[in-house]
Amino acid sequence: MITIKGMQKGRFLNPIPQLVTGFSSSAAAISTCSSCDAMDTANQLQSLHSRYPEYTRDSTKATEHRNAFNKYNIRGLSQCLNWPKRFNDNSHAASYLVNHHFTSDRNTDAKDFSSKLLKGIPDFVKIVEVGPRDGLQNEKSIVPTDVKVELIKLLVSSGLSVIEATSFVSPKWVPQLADAKDVLEGIQDVEGVSFPVLTPNLKGFEAAVAAGAKEVAVFPAASESFSKANLNSGIEDNLARCRDIASASRSYSIPVRGYISCVVGCPFEGHVAQAKVAYVAKALNEMGCSEISLGDTIGVGTPGTVVPMLEAVLDVVPVDKLAVHFHDTYGQALSNTLISLQMGISVVDSSVSGLGGCPYAKGATGNVATEDVVYMLDGIGVKTNVDLGKLMQAGDFICKHLGRASNSRAATALSKVKAHASKL
Ligand code: HMG
Ligand code: MG
Repeated sequence: MITIKGMQKGRFLNPIPQLVTGFSSSAAAISTCSSCDAMDTANQLQSLHSRYPEYTRDSTKATEHRNAFNKYNIRGLSQCLNWPKRFNDNSHAASYLVNHHFTSDRNTDAKDFSSKLLKGIPDFVKIVEVGPRDGLQNEKSIVPTDVKVELIKLLVSSGLSVIEATSFVSPKWVPQLADAKDVLEGIQDVEGVSFPVLTPNLKGFEAAVAAGAKEVAVFPAASESFSKANLNSGIEDNLARCRDIASASRSYSIPVRGYISCVVGCPFEGHVAQAKVAYVAKALNEMGCSEISLGDTIGVGTPGTVVPMLEAVLDVVPVDKLAVHFHDTYGQALSNTLISLQMGISVVDSSVSGLGGCPYAKGATGNVATEDVVYMLDGIGVKTNVDLGKLMQAGDFICKHLGRASNSRAATALSKVKAHASKL
């Protein structure tokens, strides 16, 4: 039996067994596409299959099959997955994709049947896409400005409402984002979406405002050593710079988001005390930050460390001001995200295709992949207004440019399903 000090007393970890003996599987409900309301209920899909079992294989029934699926709005599903138009006429592909899109049915509240575990989860989660900034800042070869702009536009078209566009930091420290001004220029005509940018000091803030930024973010750390490595200043000096930015931003009515790096662990100091995180969070709240994002910069957290850290922060900052920012180094980002939602947090930072890493946190991998977060939230019936298929297009675009495979498990799996369906 593994017990973690302080863990079992946590309200959010209480139902977790102290000894895990094996998997208990719940009935595998066939569920439907929540992004497009493709079908009324999982039961309807099941009854569809029982009424038309032969259509799955018999091409002579293709028309009836297509009619049956159209009745349940297969076009919605095809749009959701950016399914090529010709697939609308392919009943086998329709069947295959419907059966491999395991998201929840928005019309039946997925949270009802397991309300005990899911009831604290908000109905809507705002996703803050950090791919163009956090995702790219660590890339060795410089990504051309027009590729960054195109990536942001593709992300916009997926329905994301907040996309962190770039950073106004020293180009000597982060050469990849030296084109911050040009990136903002390239997206100046895009409306209805927030494009916050990182600003480490007044110099960065002024440059960002001059380039048209309407929202900025400051980024102190909870660890002294990381603060020095990342910003060339200790926690207190850095908080003073954040205060300068917060006060300058008031005259422009520009909201300031506050990040805290290393909320669980630091690459230099190891464990970071919850009290330090709460201290920085309180300072950011008092200086007027509109939102405070808690970053597990090196991705070492588990629910065992994230829950007590969040409890400490929740003592000093209201839940509706908090966001979580998990990197996935140890594969814990989705569990940490889920438990944060159970604690009432409704803003999640993530990066398309799981791109990213921090130049000053060696070995840390990218953020949790946005596609995986959207897939999970779809699966538990939480609205995000993000179209998973279009998001995957943005991921494909940047992964092709970088010449590497996606780090998103959901995007990888769904691409295989789609490729298989296209052969049917
Ligand atoms: P410094 O070297 O101490 O700055 O760096 P300085 O004031 O001594 O100035 C040195 C030079 O930088 C000067 O130029 C300044 O003009 C210039 P020079 O005279 O040598 O030609 N400079 C700037 N240039 C452009 N924009 C600016 C700026 N400021 C100074 N804003 C500094 C201090 C803060 C600038 C530097 O350490 C820096 O840029 N750090 C940024 C590091 C960074 O971006 N890290 C990644 C983001 S944090 C992160 O990823 C974590 C997060 O995702 C949360 C999580 O994952 O948990 C947010
Ligand atoms: Mg980060």
